[in-house]
Amino acid sequence: MKKYSYPLSKLGWNQNTKQYAKMWQDKSKRWLSVKELNIIKNSLFSYLEGSKLTIDNILILDVGVGAGRILGLYIDECHATKVHGVDYAENMIKFNKQKYKNKVILNKCDISKSTPFKKKKFNFISAIRVIKYQKNWKKVFEKISSILKNDGIFVFSIPNKQSVNIFSGDKMASTTISELKNILSNSDLEILNTFGYTRLPEPLYNIKILQDLIIIIESILSQILPKHYLSKVMFVVVKKTSKK
Ligand SMILES: C[S@@+](CC[C@H](N)C(=O)[O-])C[C@H]1O[C@@H](n2cnc3c(N)ncnc32)[C@H](O)[C@@H]1O
Repeated sequence: MKKYSYPLSKLGWNQNTKQYAKMWQDKSKRWLSVKELNIIKNSLFSYLEGSKLTIDNILILDVGVGAGRILGLYIDECHATKVHGVDYAENMIKFNKQKYKNKVILNKCDISKSTPFKKKKFNFISAIRVIKYQKNWKKVFEKISSILKNDGIFVFSIPNKQSVNIFSGDKMASTTISELKNILSNSDLEILNTFGYTRLPEPLYNIKILQDLIIIIESILSQILPKHYLSKVMFVVVKKTSKK
């Protein structure tokens, strides 16, 4: 069994850049990644359609770039030309600078503290598998909202409080959709769409011989169960409302 556990500190992410990139190559993880990337891509294209903007004249930001999985979607698949990324781990920044060269503008910053951007700069922001690591995760929504244009879109993932996660003993942030609604509305963010998936415990994903079986079971469970029921991850698409 190949074990990969997520680092919980900046130092951990700095030391695990290559392992993290490799983790996404396992079959069940690739399957999961396609699901996640499709949600982001569909949200981006619906935004473009609705706003009559084009991929060339919008500004996109990926928060917590990691090994560049989401940056790759914007640059290689969506052919975005103005993509920014931030991460607090220096090695993640270096890794993506080498990978994407001048196709992306990367900044080192801790999103839980501050950002180097002016207010209402971005049309589209993503933070996938990042919010859960923040102690002050509720405040992070305020920071992200402040750099998002009115009617701009923010896509993020966050663990579901009502899932098998509660038995894992981890200290990561988790919530429910109804709790989120209130937290987000305090930051002028309105939920447009939510998705829930992956119900099996995380360690099973590390067992190579179970990869095909995991994909089959997860697919069946997502078809027969209500969308957030017992799902570990919730994907949330929100829009910045134009109150201010
Ligand atoms: C699990 S990885 C996710 C990477 C990428 N979003 C993806 O889904 O493939 C989490 C990333 O967020 C970064 N990160 C965690 N907390 C952060 C913070 N407060 N500010 C900026 N980056 C952070 C870590 O360094 C790491 O690169």
